[in-house]
Amino acid sequence: MTEPLRLGIAGLGTVGAGVVKIVQRQSQLISARTGRRVEITAVSARTRDKDRGVNLSKYAWEEDPVALARRPDIDVYVELMGGDAGPAKASTEAAIAAGKDVVTANKAMLALHGQELAEAAEAKGVALRYEAAVAGGIPVIKALTEGLAGNGISRVMGVMNGTCNYILTRMGDAGLTYEEAFAEADGLGYLEADPNLDVGGIDAAHKLAILAAIAFGTKVDFDAIQLEGIGSITIEDIRRADDMGYRIKLLGVAQSTGRGLETRMSPCLVPSASPLGQLTGGTNMVVLEGDSVGQIVLRGAGAGEGPTASAVLSDICDIARGLRLPTFGQPATTLASPTRANAGAPSAYYLRMELTDKPGALAKVATILGDNGVSIDRMRQYDHPGDNAPVLIVTHKTARADLDAALGQLPRTGVVTGAPVALRIEEV
Ligand code: HSE
Repeated sequence: MTEPLRLGIAGLGTVGAGVVKIVQRQSQLISARTGRRVEITAVSARTRDKDRGVNLSKYAWEEDPVALARRPDIDVYVELMGGDAGPAKASTEAAIAAGKDVVTANKAMLALHGQELAEAAEAKGVALRYEAAVAGGIPVIKALTEGLAGNGISRVMGVMNGTCNYILTRMGDAGLTYEEAFAEADGLGYLEADPNLDVGGIDAAHKLAILAAIAFGTKVDFDAIQLEGIGSITIEDIRRADDMGYRIKLLGVAQSTGRGLETRMSPCLVPSASPLGQLTGGTNMVVLEGDSVGQIVLRGAGAGEGPTASAVLSDICDIARGLRLPTFGQPATTLASPTRANAGAPSAYYLRMELTDKPGALAKVATILGDNGVSIDRMRQYDHPGDNAPVLIVTHKTARADLDAALGQLPRTGVVTGAPVALRIEEV
């Protein structure tokens, strides 16, 4: 058997400890499958004296992850600290410069600095792998770069933040307010240290930016993503959407349009009966559409010790087998600069508004929508105790600009109370 593959692991939180456990527990299976023993040589973390539920006594300890990354007795630097810059990026760069392969779970670093890191890794002839960075245990990077390598990809969609899906599910199922569901998620330890990464959609957008780069052969472009979190979603919208046959999801969509690449991460309605509509709790789902394969749906745990460590091991096993694919599925220097679509593809929309319940109110709203080219598909008015009637409208496909123009003119009708809610209905 060839020489063992020696790992240096930086970051011994949930994921790092999980990786150590798998390497220890599955050592025979891994060497049988890769033809090589995989060993841990050295580790690094912020605190040394902490019970992590794993025996680390046989591994060398490094205080400084950069020093770990440069150690001559490691072949692969496994970066599991997180953070888009700082020690994670410095140590990754040091590892690449020292000719080490790198495995990371760091979506923020890849989404913001992926191009320069990929170019550096490929110039050095080393791997930079990150299966764990997107949708935890779901092997979506492999699916796109390998399984679907022969397909032109037209659209990638995903629910890729389990915390948001958990909050939205609990609001719908248990009738919790956003604040109550958020507090519950917090109590379960689901939220990132900065919760806005979750509920602001940023964590999921990092993942979408990475998938878009692979799917469309473009440089990773996080700043292009139209980003909106779930903080303004109310139980009322969840219930009303349900009445109309939809569920609200924080949905990432990357699609190639005639006008360029459209990338969005925002709350959207999807049909309740669709796989995305049926996704509940903290689970993730990624939907990929290729010109030959059609649509495929991947579902699984997007976070947690076992699933995320499982994805890290997938990359380690590839490296042990000698598989070194370009970071984004094609050489980084050949990735195109993306043309950003300046207007999203037309779509149906869900509109909720409160109207003064008096003769002609609805007609005024319908006139403004019609004048702006927005056609009504379905409409429902609900019983109401006071003077204001909750009204729901589902439009036919319309350009967002036309809808925004109509929404902007609604106040002058004098019958609309408060700000209407407008959510995109994604065709899935
Ligand atoms: N905080 C993420 C989630 C997991 O809730 O899905 C790590 O990306």
